Amino acid sequence: MSSDIDNIFDKAAKGKAVIKNDQALKIDYIPEKLPFREQEEKTLAQVLSTTFRSARPSNLFLFGEPGTGKTAVVKKVIEKLEKKAKELKTNVKVINVNAKGASTAYKVLYEIAEYVGLNQEDKTKRVPFTGLSMGEATGRILQFIQKKRLSVILIIDEIDSLVDKSGDDILYSFTRANQQMTEGGFIALIGISNSLDFKDKLDPRVRSSLSEEEMVFKPYTIDQLREILHERSKIAFNHDAISEAAVNLCSAMAGREHGDARKAIDLLRVAAELAERENAVAVDEKHVRAAQEKIERNAPYDLLKNAPTHMKLVVLAIAKTKDARTGDVYDIYTALCKHLEQEPLTQRRVTQMISKLDLLGMVATDVVSQGRYGRSQKIKIKIPLATVKEALKEDFTSLID
Ligand SMILES: Nc1ncnc2c1ncn2[C@@H]1O[C@H](COP(=O)(O)OP(=O)(O)OP(=O)(O)O)[C@@H](O)[C@H]1O
Ligand SMILES: [Mg+2]
Repeated sequence: MSSDIDNIFDKAAKGKAVIKNDQALKIDYIPEKLPFREQEEKTLAQVLSTTFRSARPSNLFLFGEPGTGKTAVVKKVIEKLEKKAKELKTNVKVINVNAKGASTAYKVLYEIAEYVGLNQEDKTKRVPFTGLSMGEATGRILQFIQKKRLSVILIIDEIDSLVDKSGDDILYSFTRANQQMTEGGFIALIGISNSLDFKDKLDPRVRSSLSEEEMVFKPYTIDQLREILHERSKIAFNHDAISEAAVNLCSAMAGREHGDARKAIDLLRVAAELAERENAVAVDEKHVRAAQEKIERNAPYDLLKNAPTHMKLVVLAIAKTKDARTGDVYDIYTALCKHLEQEPLTQRRVTQMISKLDLLGMVATDVVSQGRYGRSQKIKIKIPLATVKEALKEDFTSLID
């Protein structure tokens, strides 16, 4: 008993009573062990292992709901593959691009050229930051890969946002590239997406070559989330600094919609921060409930802050109008694009985006009759203007007043 008391005092004296390792609660942290994904890890390793026999691995398409471990599994396996490649001194290059971050397909090509060493090596045949046609840039990259006999594994995470922005031509070139590289070198493509209908958007030829192999990541069950959180707690928290009930509640809450481990870990982190703030010795259910509330309150902000650029611009256009019609929103949106020297998306794509924003609860749309002119949609922003400004001010300083 007295040691319990000592424990409490000791923890408090150290300042941080609850969190032992805050890195382990960050979103990009990947634990050494990923429970319930052993099979996926093995399959991926198996597919990629042909690299070490100098044979091209099958192209691979991974998909599943958000927070089901796709990025984590790929990163973990790739890290081990790169380590092995280094040991064996092979010519393996792994390129991992997140298409949501890269603004266009050309930017992806540029990143590849930088990474495979083309831009450093051959000044006359490099892929500059701007200026080449897509075809020319792709050709230069493929030639370089062939000349150097490189084994390239190209991972495109959030591949759907690349196709949304730039179409699937770039994927077509890369999946076909191997037929042209008859003298050696190859490129294997791993596409990752959480949009379940993404494949339908692809040209059938691209679809079949991208999906030479497929892996589906299923949502975690509540029990699985509990186990994942339990493991994570051991790394992140001091001994006894989180109650069993708190872990259970986090997993139940996160598992309610679609077993999303990111959501579960977010809850855990925010709950722990709240517990620390009030100098509690342990995270309990009340902190988890408060965390849930806090996350819900911040949801529109987070969503907007992390949205793709053009979605942000559409939201901004809607925020700048009052009860506008789709056409009006589109006009303002194109004006904003022009101001930022960005190529606007088509009106059709913007209309689709507005439907998505409606589904997400960010805007409200209302169909109104316009007499003999037919029907039109009126669009209203649903999140507070201050939230919109706060979330967008970093990206579009010049557009926010
Ligand atoms: N099996 C697992 N064990 C431990 N942690 C996990 C597991 N699966 C996912 N996570 C953690 O959950 C978070 C989300 O996982 P990840 O980023 O891999 O999801 P994703 O499937 O790529 O989602 P999205 O489609 O939204 O990109 C990460 O912090 C990851 O470390
Ligand atoms: Mg991911």
